[in-house]
Amino acid sequence: MSKRRILRVAVTALVVFAVLLASACEKKDGDSAAPAPTEVRIGIVAPITGDAATFGISTRNGAQLYFDQVNAAGGINGMTIRTFVEDDKGDPAEGANAWSKLIDQDKVVTIVGTVMSKVSLAGAPISQNKGIPMISPTSTNPAVTLVGDYVFRACFIDPFQGLVAAKYATQTMNVRRAAVLYDAGNDYTKGLAEVFRDEFIKMGGEIVAFESYATGTSDFNAQLVKINAVAPDVLFLPNYYNDVGLIAKQARAMGISAQFLGGDGWDSPDLFTIGGTAIEGGIFSNHFTAESTLPAAQAFVRDYEARYGQKPDALAALAYEAAMIVVDSIRRAGSIDPTAIRDAMATTNMETITGRITFDASRNPIKGAVLLEVRNGAAVYKATVNP
Ligand code: PHE
Repeated sequence: MSKRRILRVAVTALVVFAVLLASACEKKDGDSAAPAPTEVRIGIVAPITGDAATFGISTRNGAQLYFDQVNAAGGINGMTIRTFVEDDKGDPAEGANAWSKLIDQDKVVTIVGTVMSKVSLAGAPISQNKGIPMISPTSTNPAVTLVGDYVFRACFIDPFQGLVAAKYATQTMNVRRAAVLYDAGNDYTKGLAEVFRDEFIKMGGEIVAFESYATGTSDFNAQLVKINAVAPDVLFLPNYYNDVGLIAKQARAMGISAQFLGGDGWDSPDLFTIGGTAIEGGIFSNHFTAESTLPAAQAFVRDYEARYGQKPDALAALAYEAAMIVVDSIRRAGSIDPTAIRDAMATTNMETITGRITFDASRNPIKGAVLLEVRNGAAVYKATVNP
């Protein structure tokens, strides 16, 4: 036998010995009958700091409120919920780290998160590969749940939201000339811009300007000059509140008089402080209004206000709803096995604070949108649009 051969045999023997030892230990553990789990570990991921901080704080608060209510009422099948909260800072790399930490270190069995589509898109492949179900409360980009069958969401998707805005412009306002200004580095704003463009053209409208900027831009002069030159009836802004506030201000200062339209990314009290009077009259689609007359929604608004001292926005509502879906799935699974939870989640059929929820084959719920209008520094309910 050559030296190399001897070495290989020795190593193989060692490995075999180690494997036998490990399986013997395992058996011993199994013999001492593992006690039934007393807690359910659930992750929450949200941008608690950074550019979309109001989104993250609302999301964490909404989910935590429901989990605490469930614990106060006796938990899930006798188990207490323990949450592990991670801040993704609105950044995909931070999001991926949060997912890995929650799964590998904290051993969560499900994740509620996250807010921004571009960050959910970084977490989703990790959930899928590790077999840990996730439900994003508010990521509206279609690609998110297409990552795989462990990925769910609690909100409608952007093709619907873009349709709602295009319909409002062409049918309610009865105008035909629209401009679009979006963040080219964000899956959500880019996707929503494209859907609006396509739907608006299908409805007989003309897109007179389709302008973009890089993430982090705060001076929109170059794009707004071009938009001003074509005098659109509508300026569609499928962006988050901070960009929208700045764009509205700079557009009005330049003399652009177009009606501002947008999507769920506008939903923040900071929109009114940043945009001031420039954003007055702006109209956007959203997932929820605290003016909802559904009894379950009213109870949620009351409980949220009592605990946090402010009315819930759509992010808080959808995080609460996502938490409801998770708890219902674990109850019906009768187990904290992540795959059993996933299977139960796929067959969800329950009343939530926005109505009855079921998932389609791509794990998207079918839901209506509300249209809100900015009036006196607040978002006021205008109409409901069903799919
Ligand atoms: N829909 C946005 C996204 O996918 C996130 C968002 C939802 C922001 C709701 C505000 C309100 O990125």
